[in-house]
Amino acid sequence: MPTLAIIGAQWGDEGKGKITDYLAEDADLVVRFQGGNNAGHTIKTGGEVFKLHLLPSGILHNGRLSVIGNGVVVNFADLVEEMEQLTSAGYCMDGLRISDRAHLVMNYHKRQDAAEEAYRGAKTVGTTKKGIGPAYQDKVARNGFRVGDIFEEELFMERTRYNLRLKKDLFKIMPDAGTCECTDETFRKKMEDWRSRFGKYVCDTSVLINDAIDGGKNILFEGAQGVMLDTDHGTYPYVTSSNTVAGGICAGAGVAPNKIEKVLGCLKAYTTRVGDGPFVTELHGENGKYLMEKGGEYGTTTGRGRRCGWLDLVAAEHSARLCGFTSLAIMKLDVLGGYRKINVCTGYKIDGHIVDRFPASIAKLQRAEPVYEEMDGWDDLGSAEKMAKKGFDALPENMRSYIRFIEDRLRIPADIISIGPGRSETIDRRKDWWS
Ligand code: GDP
Ligand code: IMO
Ligand code: MG
Repeated sequence: MPTLAIIGAQWGDEGKGKITDYLAEDADLVVRFQGGNNAGHTIKTGGEVFKLHLLPSGILHNGRLSVIGNGVVVNFADLVEEMEQLTSAGYCMDGLRISDRAHLVMNYHKRQDAAEEAYRGAKTVGTTKKGIGPAYQDKVARNGFRVGDIFEEELFMERTRYNLRLKKDLFKIMPDAGTCECTDETFRKKMEDWRSRFGKYVCDTSVLINDAIDGGKNILFEGAQGVMLDTDHGTYPYVTSSNTVAGGICAGAGVAPNKIEKVLGCLKAYTTRVGDGPFVTELHGENGKYLMEKGGEYGTTTGRGRRCGWLDLVAAEHSARLCGFTSLAIMKLDVLGGYRKINVCTGYKIDGHIVDRFPASIAKLQRAEPVYEEMDGWDDLGSAEKMAKKGFDALPENMRSYIRFIEDRLRIPADIISIGPGRSETIDRRKDWWS
């Protein structure tokens, strides 16, 4: 193998964590390549629920190498907490590796994130306020700190002085950011602490991953967020600050494009979005609230209620084209149980014309009306575990038609069907994926 990427096909929270954990059974390495702890990946295993933000979802399989690649932005303080939660639950961190080229999220990035949102007034992005955007801004502006810098104290201190001066000046025009009062001494102490906690995990992860590829190991790339939040291809400016598309793996993990063999698009059976921005198939009022409650759609990172709506195949096709999905995992089909009729969006009506390509213009998206295909629904499933054991052919006929409709429209096989949050609530139709 075999390398396989798991990519969110919508606006995040499709169930990537569940699928990564499920497939990690057969993997030797699980690699995060973009984003930071704006991500929240939920995994239900052995009756317990874990919410991972920075740690790759392979970490729950003791012994898997779990790699935080160079394209990720890392908040060490938050990572400490996440690691402590897992170690106190009996999981081991020996498999963790962190790229020396990954950038750091500092406390001032978090404050800048909140202050920028306040500065935007009514036009907020609705960020997670984890400092992700400002950390990537500093990376691109060549002001960032990289993980490997913690071993170079004088270089780090020189950058610290420059950055603190810069942030102090910036924060003068952003009253909500407060002031930046850190001293040399506090930074030296932090560096010492980071070296002693994380030093042993730091390495050149591109070399590690490529050696594993050459050695025939199975590698999973775990995407964060979703294609529709990609900086270039998503609903800009209502996006995150990294490339969430499959192509992001090349830069964010240091892997050549011809080394990525399979790409699994993780597609929720309906649509959700957290934060602001256009959402053509959104259900408002009681209808949206019903789906939010039924699906347990509350943000894993921020606890915010997720906006909910019907499946949007215009957006899904956009994602499939950009990422070259070779398979789909269709998630949360159980949540749609009980609807008499289910809508699927197959086009947008914009200024009197029907389009089936996802437009770049936010103004057009805001004017777009969904064109729906109405499909017959199915009853609630009852025990998803029992249903999963019986396999695909035992699923309600209308659910199978819904799945086939998606497969036909996207021309991609739905190799995984998920009907519950647990590992055993999964129907696996794969053939020879890892050979
Ligand atoms: P991620 O960010 O893509 O990993 O997704 P999140 O973890 O943020 O959100 C997905 C939510 O749906 C989590 O609470 C999962 O436990 C849950 N989930 C995943 N798959 C299924 C499924 O097939 N059915 C149901 N009911 N819940 C699921
Ligand atoms: P996972 O990996 C859903 C959204 C935020 C906001 C926008 C920008 O769990 O799918 P940011 O803090 O990244 O600058 O916020 O992106 N967002 C997510 N939405 N799932 C996520 O991650 C998200 N990560 C960021 O809500 O709209
Ligand atoms: Mg999530």
